[in-house]
Amino acid sequence: MTSDQTLALEPDQERALQTLMRRYRGRGQSALLPMLHEVQAITGWVDEPTARAVAHTLGIPEIEVHNVLTFYTLFYTEPVGKRVIRVCNDIACVLAGNGELIQRLAEELGVDPETGGTSADSRFTLELHPCLGHCERAPFLMLDEEPMGPVAPDQVPDLLGGVS
Ligand code: FES
Repeated sequence: MTSDQTLALEPDQERALQTLMRRYRGRGQSALLPMLHEVQAITGWVDEPTARAVAHTLGIPEIEVHNVLTFYTLFYTEPVGKRVIRVCNDIACVLAGNGELIQRLAEELGVDPETGGTSADSRFTLELHPCLGHCERAPFLMLDEEPMGPVAPDQVPDLLGGVS
């Protein structure tokens, strides 16, 4: 884990998490990935106490949860924006002009185009990723789980404005 922060959940998130924990109780290692995906869909990111609760619920060692959280880039162990924009920054997308797209997104969100980051209002996190597997749609990005591409820089205001 890399964050000392802990989740501040709304009552409905707390209830959803408790329901999820009951559903996964005792299901073991094979349920770890799907459970973490569901946890993160509720909480946005996974803090230390939640990681411990996942291990306890599944009946597996805490280190196994930590290993998965640190291995997979789609899991977050620090706070992220409400919505996450993953922009491909690999060769096909670079050749298709993703630089302007990244620049425009970074400007709109007020984050560094070299590193990405989270907007001041915590609505969005911008991330730069290696190939996301949709090179034929370059420049390509994922808005949470939704694939989008090709995306032109002038589509950015609509893209951000259309997201709740
Ligand atoms: S290089 Fe961008 S999706 Fe493959």
